[in-house]
Amino acid sequence: MKKRISILGSTGSIGRQTLEVVDRFPEKFEVVALAAGSNVDEIVRQSLKYKPKLVSIGKPEDVQKIKPLVSEETIVRFGIEGMVEAAVLEEVDVVVTSVTGTLGLLPTIEAIKAGKDIALANKETLVAAGDLVMALVKEKGVKIFPVDSEHSAIFQSLNGEKRPDVNKLILTASGGPFRNKSSKELINIRPEDALRHPNWSMGRKITIDSATLMNKGLEVIEARWLFGIDFQKIDVVIHPQSIIHSMVEFVDGSVIGQMGLPDMKLPIQYALSYPDRWENGFPKLDLLQIGKLTFERPRTEVFPALPLAFEAGRLGGTMPAVMNAANEIAVELFLAGHIGFVKIVELIENVMGKHTLIKVPDLNGILESDRWAREETKRLSGIKL
Ligand SMILES: NC(=O)c1ccc[n+]([C@@H]2O[C@H](COP(=O)([O-])OP(=O)(O)OC[C@H]3O[C@@H](n4cnc5c(N)ncnc54)[C@H](OP(=O)(O)O)[C@@H]3O)[C@@H](O)[C@H]2O)c1
Repeated sequence: MKKRISILGSTGSIGRQTLEVVDRFPEKFEVVALAAGSNVDEIVRQSLKYKPKLVSIGKPEDVQKIKPLVSEETIVRFGIEGMVEAAVLEEVDVVVTSVTGTLGLLPTIEAIKAGKDIALANKETLVAAGDLVMALVKEKGVKIFPVDSEHSAIFQSLNGEKRPDVNKLILTASGGPFRNKSSKELINIRPEDALRHPNWSMGRKITIDSATLMNKGLEVIEARWLFGIDFQKIDVVIHPQSIIHSMVEFVDGSVIGQMGLPDMKLPIQYALSYPDRWENGFPKLDLLQIGKLTFERPRTEVFPALPLAFEAGRLGGTMPAVMNAANEIAVELFLAGHIGFVKIVELIENVMGKHTLIKVPDLNGILESDRWAREETKRLSGIKL
């Protein structure tokens, strides 16, 4: 039986690599639905190749550009409703959530409600609404397979283990392009410097998040929800080679981790093949060529996004959603050249400081806090977007 998949964000870095995995195993997958934002050419190319039942694009005006170019049998939709439709189609077994930002939240929730398993790349969904989403996952009896390499590593390290035996999770971080820079040196960083990640080729937003270490902060919160573990049992270590993707320390002192080349196709494939492993012909890890694996303490005094994310996570309620939304806008402002690199985290901290926390929010409370944080970040920046 082929696994029938829907990919939300099929034109992005994770979306395209998911399709590369599909290409490697055509006998194992059927692509049923694809959703993208603005890349009309790419979604048309993908539609012609994979012949999905439905494609969705961000804006209504693009529907008329796509329709004449794809098969008459392909349904073309747009906007968030289109993305939700792509996620809940009856034929879909698993939804790969690879859009960026809280944009992924509603389609993921609807997919879970419709009983779909999730291959989760969109970490912002669990950051903003981890409590609600995981409760829904439990209620509907669906599975979440992590795509993020760190969470895939932890997921793999926990295979066959008992949860009470876990002492702590150790998330590794490459440290990003500015690992050795001083606070002073960060002041003049330009977007093109921050977009040059040493180990991973990724979308623009996550690449900036990796440079500020906010990405690791988001991953800490993601791990808290995925694995149901308290924040005090989550550690972060800098591991510049990105070979050990993360580890679990058990009560007896054993540490189990997962290693591999820094290639997102591996965790994507495992999220879709679990519990099986498939020979894929991708390059294999050569430890002699790597030579040495090193570890460092994160310099939180230079990269305050990491302790800020721990703080947002510990406060809970609407605070992680606020931090995440403020980060999305601040990164946009930085990429557009409106604010400096250091200002990203300053803005987020200021917005968090002004937020009136809702301790146990419902979905509306989360969405409203997200909306408020976006407005507040723009207002505090003094820039009109
Ligand atoms: N890249 C990685 O290596 C990596 C690793 C771990 C986790 N992740 C996570 O995976 C997610 C995606 O990251 P990425 O690097 O793949 O991002 P990306 O390359 O920027 O891709 C984002 C995708 O979202 C789509 N999109 C944007 N606006 C949309 C809209 N309004 N409606 C529908 N689709 C929309 C984009 O479509 P268009 O391009 O057509 O506009 C694109 O397909 C993020 O949450 C990230 O944190 C990524």
